[in-house]
Amino acid sequence: MKMVKVGIIGGGLMGREAASAFGRWFVLQDYPVQVALTAVCDLQEKVLAWYEKVPTVTLRTQHIDELLASDVDVVYVAVPHHLHEEIYVKVLRAGKDLLAEKPFGIDLAAAERIAAVARETGRFVRCSSEFPFLPGPQQVINDFRTQDFGKLLYIRSGFHHASDLDPNKPINWKRQVAYCGAIGVMGDLGMHAVHVPFRLGWVPQRVYAQLQKIYTERPDGKGGMAACDTWDNAMLHCEVDVNGQSVPMTIETKRMAPTETNTWFIEVVGTDGGVKYSTKQPKTLYRYRRDSTQSWCATDLGFESVHPTITGGIFEPGFPDCFLQMLASYFAERAGQLNGRFGCATMEEALLSHRLFAAALESARSRQVASLRSTRKIAL
Ligand SMILES: NC(=O)c1ccc[n+]([C@@H]2O[C@H](COP(=O)([O-])OP(=O)(O)OC[C@H]3O[C@@H](n4cnc5c(N)ncnc54)[C@H](O)[C@@H]3O)[C@@H](O)[C@H]2O)c1
Repeated sequence: MKMVKVGIIGGGLMGREAASAFGRWFVLQDYPVQVALTAVCDLQEKVLAWYEKVPTVTLRTQHIDELLASDVDVVYVAVPHHLHEEIYVKVLRAGKDLLAEKPFGIDLAAAERIAAVARETGRFVRCSSEFPFLPGPQQVINDFRTQDFGKLLYIRSGFHHASDLDPNKPINWKRQVAYCGAIGVMGDLGMHAVHVPFRLGWVPQRVYAQLQKIYTERPDGKGGMAACDTWDNAMLHCEVDVNGQSVPMTIETKRMAPTETNTWFIEVVGTDGGVKYSTKQPKTLYRYRRDSTQSWCATDLGFESVHPTITGGIFEPGFPDCFLQMLASYFAERAGQLNGRFGCATMEEALLSHRLFAAALESARSRQVASLRSTRKIAL
């Protein structure tokens, strides 16, 4: 089996998560690609030092060009959003394939420039979004595709956090427009919320956005205060066409949603049936049926993964598992061996998410419904 060598640029929170997934690649069963993390680049010595414990890593460097000159085939880039364009383009121009962290550029213009280079170089590019790889979301997709929900009443998809409710939480780059982008929370959490809707073909043409900035400053960690200028919460009210029927779809991304530590959810509800799943109850899927009575029925899911693993079928999956599954889809698809399994978010889906978020900014500015620019050109 061919060994694919991987490098990481940006070894922080997500870089370490990826390293942990590569470190237990052997849990995948009958999987077609061997992968080894061999090189890591980060500006911080202490971040690089953490990777000393990863036996396959032979290059730890503070210089991106050194990593790109090594024999890595694929680079996973997990850096602040203002650096996405520069670093993604470097990776592509160096002839490497790219697993890009969301939101795939700080704004729509950056995403379009990255996409242009990806098309020109012909490299394999996908964008990170791992929650759909959990069994619950997979079952939601399967139910929608195989069952008759009657006339769809609504679609609701979102991702909620709560830790920003603490006004004493110090500022970090994700709360500052210069590093996170003007789209704020949508750039942080939005790709997660739109991946499944876009994959199911629910592409909004228009949006009405309610965006909130709740705390406008935070402790700077040095005894003073710093401006916290990103949007904290975003409610995107969209309308999508599902089988010729217009259906309301809300995309919710919130950093201030009381009690929600990291809650990804989706609900698809029609007159005769429906399905909903939330990581708040990570193994439970709810199905709505309208028979003689109306009821939500709860089913415990097991470890039904996209790619088979050695884990027992009744065990519960979590964040590290869906991240590993997402990586497994990346490398299987890159090798032409996805075989109908669920694939990572595509570049077109990432571009579409930026079109939605750009329209949301316009809507919030004008307090009117805004159209998405050139969504019709997107081939999903
Ligand atoms: N998929 C997910 O669930 C998920 C979760 C959190 C963050 N993210 C995304 O991952 C990316 C990184 O977020 P994070 O939370 O890991 O951030 P982080 O701050 O924990 O890590 C970023 C790392 O990048 C390094 N870095 C900065 N500039 C660099 C440069 N020029 N060259 C090399 N390294 C550099 C920093 O030193 C830091 O270690 C962002 O795009 C973010 O949106 C994704």
